[in-house]
Amino acid sequence: MIAAEADKPTIKPQGDKSVIKLKDITRIYKVGVERIHALDGISLELKENEYVAVMGASGSGKSTLMNVLGCLDRATSGYYGLDGQDTTKLSDAALARVRNERIGFVFQSFELLSQLTAIKNVEMPLIYSRNGWRSRRKRAQSVLERVGLSDRIKHKPNQLSGGEKQRVAIARALVCGPSILLADEPTGNLDSKTSESIMELFDKLHQEGQTIIIVTHEEFVAHHAERIIHMKDGRIFSDMPSNRKKANETEMYHEEQGRAS
Ligand SMILES: Nc1ncnc2c1ncn2[C@@H]1O[C@H](COP(=O)(O)OP(=O)(O)OP(=O)(O)O)[C@@H](O)[C@H]1O
Ligand SMILES: [Mg+2]
Repeated sequence: MIAAEADKPTIKPQGDKSVIKLKDITRIYKVGVERIHALDGISLELKENEYVAVMGASGSGKSTLMNVLGCLDRATSGYYGLDGQDTTKLSDAALARVRNERIGFVFQSFELLSQLTAIKNVEMPLIYSRNGWRSRRKRAQSVLERVGLSDRIKHKPNQLSGGEKQRVAIARALVCGPSILLADEPTGNLDSKTSESIMELFDKLHQEGQTIIIVTHEEFVAHHAERIIHMKDGRIFSDMPSNRKKANETEMYHEEQGRAS
């Protein structure tokens, strides 16, 4: 095998295990006498290792959907199953535990704690784990290495570039080994070159097996994903494989043919 090929990560085939199942989800906000149907009957299934982009006009319900998926908010009605568990039946404390252990959330504005170093920010979600500080530090360090930031672990957020801040936020989202990584416009505050490098990081995580959903307004970001969902007025308007998915499937087919011959 030539060196360039050896360096290329193998594309992990999509599993059959269902990670997310939504059935007829609604989220209605009441503002005075007005009722806003931010989510208006969303049904959706996501399998392990899927890589999904959610697009749609401003106000179409993308962040509301992410907040429900991330257990930051509850649906008004409908079923939300995560790893086969019905989250709608959970108490607030149990839902908070699910959020901590099984959801990684990345925000447009990074949401790092400004007084803490990169490594302490990444350790934060491990505070509830029973492991001692040495093992927590080791875990945080290895995740920072995974996102390419091992040389910035003692920097505070104001000593990091925008792209580096987002890498810290991604490391924090990954530190508990989540079932799903959710990112709401993760490149919204970054220039186009930095956005591309952040998307390459998401690609790498997907190739390593991570299930990912990214909300974006940008076509080039969405085309990193393998499935693109468009929302309109709180509903799913279209749900299609991306060109990248077709290209990856062709590549996997040729790899298999090569192995068979
Ligand atoms: N806390 C809230 N209270 C009342 N209405 C809300 C609330 N949050 C969102 N909405 C309304 O719900 C709808 C969906 O909002 P949401 O933030 O999900 O849109 P979005 O697709 O993420 O938009 P953007 O692309 O601008 O981020 C909008 O009409 C919005 O005004
Ligand atoms: Mg939004």
